[in-house]
Amino acid sequence: MIDYGTYENLLIETRDPGIVILKLNRPKALNALNSATLKELGFALARIAAEPSVRVLVFTGEGEKAFIAGADITEMKDLSPSDGVYFSQLGHEVAKLLETMPKPTIAAVNGFALGGGTEMAISCDFILASEKAVFGQPEVGLGIIPGFGGTFRLARYVGFPRAKELIFTGRRIKADEAKAIGLCLEVYPAEGFLDQAVEVAKAIALQSASAVQKAKVLMNEFSETTGLNMKIDGEAHAFGRLMTSHDQREGMGAFMEKRKPAFQGLQASEGSK
Ligand code: CAA
Repeated sequence: MIDYGTYENLLIETRDPGIVILKLNRPKALNALNSATLKELGFALARIAAEPSVRVLVFTGEGEKAFIAGADITEMKDLSPSDGVYFSQLGHEVAKLLETMPKPTIAAVNGFALGGGTEMAISCDFILASEKAVFGQPEVGLGIIPGFGGTFRLARYVGFPRAKELIFTGRRIKADEAKAIGLCLEVYPAEGFLDQAVEVAKAIALQSASAVQKAKVLMNEFSETTGLNMKIDGEAHAFGRLMTSHDQREGMGAFMEKRKPAFQGLQASEGSK
């Protein structure tokens, strides 16, 4: 039995042949990503990536409702600009591991995948969705921007104009639309969804692991991950600069108080540098 560590906010299961199921486990907060959870994820993913017997990773959320309802707004609402950069970098570390670890990673999106939730899903090699999945990048409605890779990864899934439309409006999309625009590959009934995702993982796990891993590394290298560190840096700093802005305080305060935000114009929008 391989020891992947003990975590407060993660569950890890294994299935033959060589499939690891990594579950976010903060269902009361709809699996929102706070910095403690991001650190646990970074640690667990590094261990999974280094374990030779692992063929495929399936990444999902515990509970009926959510894959990941985004970065944790309770924690983000009081961040300074420099804390904002650091918080974004923590998320980027996790997203980068999902994207670049040589083993295939499948996002099994079982419910809400908003903000950082969609961003973690699009960092995986592909997305399978339950009929209950809901995707979206609602950050601009909180006075911030996507901070875990949405500004450069979403367009790779759905094309540039659609990515802009989704990020600029922050609208939520359901599983069927997500499939129609190429965000997820397939939509499955909620009942038995994880088993369906594991079946897909098995079809990969039965192939030559060395050939599959080589294919992943080359496909990334030849296309999408070009300039990854520069993109991460650009997004993390832009994300941090918006912390302490009027609109960030108003947007996140409104979420906490369960009311609609009243945003200001451009003059008041950027936080202290
Ligand atoms: N952060 C912190 N807590 C969250 C959360 C989040 N992102 N999403 C949900 N929760 C909490 C709620 O505050 C609530 O807690 P309480 O029971 O203590 O009040 C609990 O989870 C259940 O949520 P709701 O009562 O709101 O459940 P709902 O079914 O009415 O709505 C939802 C579900 C539509 C997902 C709604 O919770 C929601 O809109 N969540 C926020 C989604 C969001 O804006 N995500 C993006 C965050 S920004 C980001 O991710 C930045 C980045 O790129 C790094």
